[in-house]
Amino acid sequence: LGHPLENAKRAAAYRAVDENLDVYQHRVVGIGSGSTVIYVAERIGQYLRDDEYRDYVSKFKCVATGYQSKQLIMDNGLTYAILEQYPHIDIAFDGADEIDCNLDLIKGGGGCLFQEKLVSTSAKIFVVVADTSKKSPRRLGSHWVQGVPVEVVPAAYTRVQDDLLNLLGAKTATLRQGGKVKMGPVVTDNNNFILDTYFGDIDDPKKLHDRIKALVGVVETGLFINNAAKAYLGSPDGEVLITT
Ligand code: A5P
Repeated sequence: LGHPLENAKRAAAYRAVDENLDVYQHRVVGIGSGSTVIYVAERIGQYLRDDEYRDYVSKFKCVATGYQSKQLIMDNGLTYAILEQYPHIDIAFDGADEIDCNLDLIKGGGGCLFQEKLVSTSAKIFVVVADTSKKSPRRLGSHWVQGVPVEVVPAAYTRVQDDLLNLLGAKTATLRQGGKVKMGPVVTDNNNFILDTYFGDIDDPKKLHDRIKALVGVVETGLFINNAAKAYLGSPDGEVLITT
């Protein structure tokens, strides 16, 4: 019945949608990026085939966090809308790369951090969907060696790199590179670059976010502080841990 990790992601996403999406009240829905949110869009798309919900869900406006997200919305028969026109989002769903016990997050593994933050902080309710492997073993920053992604204006990337290493004490600040399919730096949906920084375990994520954000040339950081209302963490057996 599918790959264990996919089962975990699907379980979290389906449960998060079923328990939080108020088909009758919600009008504007944020759809995030990544491999878990695929199941969020799939689930909402299934509601379109349900006689009871069809009329409501077909009127939803779905706001995207990037091109992948926009495609997900369209592929599932949902209506794509722009945040400029619908700045007040009723509920947003998104994945995460690391989640600590305070529901603070590291995001941006997929390079969509700026628009993800725009959408998640524009939402009345922000629900995180992930598999249990995303739980931070200790403090935020202790999970992935890739650390905190920082989106930067291309012309400023060496300056920001220098500031991160020499002023803020980053252990590394590496320009994210494409791969076989596209050589050279990764260019985000906003035509910026990404620096992958590593600070080790982060004592004060809010303070670190503020200090990085204050550097000239920084567009956004992958630290999502005090933003998520709930996290749904799925296991391969279909069990879902809910954190609030
Ligand atoms: C994308 O920019 C990131 O914030 C995360 O990588 C993403 O939301 C989570 O992706 P997965 O669900 O594929 O782990």
